[in-house]
Amino acid sequence: MDDADDLPLRWRTPTAWADVAVAAPLRLLDDHAHLERDAAVNALALLRRLPADRPAERWVRALTGVARDEVDHLGTVTRELTRRGGELSRSHRNPYAAGLRDHVRTGQGPDELVDRLLVSALIELRSCERFGLLAATGSELAALYADLTASELGHYRLFLRLAAQVVPAEAATARWDELLDVEATVASAQPPGPRMHAGAPTEGTTGAP
Ligand SMILES: [Fe+2]
Ligand SMILES: [Fe+2]
Repeated sequence: MDDADDLPLRWRTPTAWADVAVAAPLRLLDDHAHLERDAAVNALALLRRLPADRPAERWVRALTGVARDEVDHLGTVTRELTRRGGELSRSHRNPYAAGLRDHVRTGQGPDELVDRLLVSALIELRSCERFGLLAATGSELAALYADLTASELGHYRLFLRLAAQVVPAEAATARWDELLDVEATVASAQPPGPRMHAGAPTEGTTGAP
């Protein structure tokens, strides 16, 4: 996979985030399982927005492939949670993704679809960075996250490719540039905690919410 330094994120997660995450593995895995479900749902929801001028079959193949991967990940993460004595919680909030979706240009046809694809790419990209940090911890979770990283990296690249099919490539690139800044702001503003898309603890705190 790409080295984490190659990921085009504009705010780098401090390693203190990973320290908080691995200190509460059941809470991390629970949050992560919900995110995998959300990712599967998102991939299938995008099928309701197929561009009219593109072959549907290729989009269906691409997006169902993502959904299938995410369903697999949901199973893997939930099994790991259960094996450790945890239980999937019945409710979940995703303020990071909600913060990104606030910037989707809703009701604007191709621009809305591009934004939804680029936001999907951003979430995958940030997840790749976080998985890499977890893989580097040497904790019991390291192997799990090392295994999952390549798949999410593939999704990130796929969503970018799809976005470039909806509007001219220059327009997609320009919007991507804007949304990378948005993502850095949203990610760095999240409160700390043992969650995949949490912010980092400030120095001298434990990060416990
Ligand atoms: Fe996944
Ligand atoms: Fe993914």
